[in-house]
Amino acid sequence: MSELKRAGTHDDGDICVNFSSNPHIDDIISARNSRRQVLGGMVAMAGLFGLSACDSDDGGQTQSNASVSAGASATTSSGKNVTLAGTATNSTGVLWTQVSGPTVALSNANSNTASFIAPAVSAPTQLVFAFNAPGTNNTVATANTTVTINPATLGFTALPKLLNDVVTVPEGYSVTVLYALGDPIAPGVPASANNGTDTNYAQRAGDHHDGMYYFGLNAAGTGRDDTSNTRGILCVNHENVTEQYLHAGGTLTVVNGARTNRVEVDREIECHGVGIVEVARGSNGVWAYNQASTFNRRITPNTPMQISGPVRGAARMRTLFSPTGTAGRGTVNNCAHGYAPWGTYLTCEENWAGYFNRAAGDNALRPAKEGQAYARYGVAGGPVAGLNWGTLAVSDPSDTTYRKWNASVVAGPADGTGDFRYEPNQYGWIVEIDPYDPASTPRKRTALGRMAHEGAWPANFVAGRPPVYYMGDDSRGEYFYKFVSATNWDPADAQRTDRLNVGDKYLDNGTLYVARFDATGQGTWLPLVFGQGVLTAANSLYSFENQADVLINSRIAADALGATKMDRPEWAGVNPVNGEVYLTLTNGNATSRPLAGTDAANPRHYNDPRTTGTAQRGNPNGHIIRLRETGDNATALTFQWDIYLFGAGSDLDPNNINLSGLDATNDFASPDGLWFSRPSNPGGQINPLLWIQTDDGSFTDQTNNQMLLALPGRVGDGGARTITNTDASGATRQQATIVGRAPGLNLKRFLVGPRNAEITGVDSTPDGRTVFVNIQHPGEGGPTATPSSNWPTSQSGPGNNARPRSATIVITKNDGGVVGL
Ligand code: FEO
Ligand code: CA
Ligand code: CA
Ligand code: CA
Repeated sequence: MSELKRAGTHDDGDICVNFSSNPHIDDIISARNSRRQVLGGMVAMAGLFGLSACDSDDGGQTQSNASVSAGASATTSSGKNVTLAGTATNSTGVLWTQVSGPTVALSNANSNTASFIAPAVSAPTQLVFAFNAPGTNNTVATANTTVTINPATLGFTALPKLLNDVVTVPEGYSVTVLYALGDPIAPGVPASANNGTDTNYAQRAGDHHDGMYYFGLNAAGTGRDDTSNTRGILCVNHENVTEQYLHAGGTLTVVNGARTNRVEVDREIECHGVGIVEVARGSNGVWAYNQASTFNRRITPNTPMQISGPVRGAARMRTLFSPTGTAGRGTVNNCAHGYAPWGTYLTCEENWAGYFNRAAGDNALRPAKEGQAYARYGVAGGPVAGLNWGTLAVSDPSDTTYRKWNASVVAGPADGTGDFRYEPNQYGWIVEIDPYDPASTPRKRTALGRMAHEGAWPANFVAGRPPVYYMGDDSRGEYFYKFVSATNWDPADAQRTDRLNVGDKYLDNGTLYVARFDATGQGTWLPLVFGQGVLTAANSLYSFENQADVLINSRIAADALGATKMDRPEWAGVNPVNGEVYLTLTNGNATSRPLAGTDAANPRHYNDPRTTGTAQRGNPNGHIIRLRETGDNATALTFQWDIYLFGAGSDLDPNNINLSGLDATNDFASPDGLWFSRPSNPGGQINPLLWIQTDDGSFTDQTNNQMLLALPGRVGDGGARTITNTDASGATRQQATIVGRAPGLNLKRFLVGPRNAEITGVDSTPDGRTVFVNIQHPGEGGPTATPSSNWPTSQSGPGNNARPRSATIVITKNDGGVVGL
């Protein structure tokens, strides 16, 4: 501690003149100003100490020096909320300033206890702070303290595996429930009764919360502010419904194979889609959604859509509703998501095929290639096990709300404009939504291909370079894709207010590629371009007609190109520091990944024995593959890959199954959600945090679904390995692969969910101090009368046999630090 004394005296109460060579208030201010804005004059100087300009007037009392202490030096790590505790006596104000080290933002700098978030560092780094206090004689006393910041670690104690009915997070963290199935999002809509009688879900939270993104709002709530940590718009996908808890009786009313209860069908339809809801952190620190916000909106399978990009107006996009094939209604089975830097949300249509009916003899009524194409996407002919909305008859023949789900050839001309034979072609796309304009019409971005889209993860938003999106097609044996825009990024477009027009600029023209993973550890991106290579009318697999035909039938084009069949590509994530791309491959079974069907990128075939139930063969636990584009260029046509992580119980064979050496603190199965922390906070800088969520059926005998946190290393940090796979007959087969470095303590279980729930969807505020996570379908499969989960009621007390509800939760660290660090 040092104390600065001032040689001169005031000749009046309004000036500050230091007659000595000692540091003075001005020096302190100038040190601070070198990091902040320049302030001038005594009023500003005094203000820094929380004084008025004339507070140094002592009223004729004895003037004395202040005495200060800045507290002991300390050591911490990136992302921690650091409190500086000073003491001052005989002072008229106090001010913390930073003397050296990477600049941080000090909160409450005019109080004894200031705080800051420890910045990201790559090596131990010292930050020096000064605690300054003027005495009643206006002499400023100063003391320094040093805080040493170490690189980020997973700053929590790993959870055990759990089978209880609450969301559990590590000690030092808190969970609140923000937005649950049935919550009203318009004025006057009553609270959910949660007993199967609620209606008007077009103004309530939908079911099966999934992918999600937080868009900032300014403090007044009038418009966009990407930096806001306290007020924003959450876009939440509502993927599906759990009818056991949605309807009063828990079952679908079906008479002679047809749905007959319109209230039920409307409830199911409106529970799908996307929820857009304003959220804010209250003065008590608790987040809540604003029921009356004018930003609130539900997008459902009935919401008008525009078709955009190369498929707009294509022959097989025409319907009775849109004879020109340029418009449609709705989005469905919205799984994961994406976003664009101009402030829009991308929702992704995954298992849309199961919503369509098609008559058993329908193939005979249309060109053979149409039946072939529908079969490749699972739009089966004959009875389906889905919700069968297309079977609901209504008295008004002009009401095609339900009829559109019947994709059979029914009536009208051969071009399909008299029925909905081509309606399935309007689904399977990435859909762009402007969350800041509730009146806007979403646009389906057909240049990004048609599949069971899991999500769309952006990369390469660098001035003068083309934006890239990585996308998984989540079905067994499907592929991994990327889209490279034809338009180079102009950062000035990020703040344009005609956001969907910006989307036209970047997302409607470009090249779609599909990945081939070679045994060498290299890979190649294969372009889905009509007329190039095998994608022509002469193709023996399917006669491609034009680029629209290639995009509508992306899967068939990828088949023709020889892409690598993967174990269900779910979420991807792009490391914000080094651009490496991670992809969850949630699982494969013995049919999709038989003993003879493994390859280097999908290398395992084994049995995961459950403590109860039957054997599970194939790759039931899934893995996470990652790739590094050649030259670290996201537009490269080749890449290097390895397998970052293999899901497995820690009790399984370490030589052939538990290849990542997982233990009881981090074993998992069926990775699904995947997310890197935002680069706007220490969690996403230097060595970014990776968040892994599970959607598991193979490990649920040991634990409910979970979320893990990782500091993941990089492509090539492990090495080649050969494993021995074994099938049910005892036959074995060797398989070479490439395994990343075992994660060890850089992978820890952070959250365990309630019973029969999937953990999916995660985002944070820009500062990383509030994290939003979705809990999907708690109690799935349980009986209506006695649900197998009562969450979220069970989160804060007895479950009371309440029906479970999917919901968005908020996770914060009790000391205000970055979540996870
Ligand atoms: Fe909706 Fe692929 O998870
Ligand atoms: Ca998923
Ligand atoms: Ca899944
Ligand atoms: Ca799901």
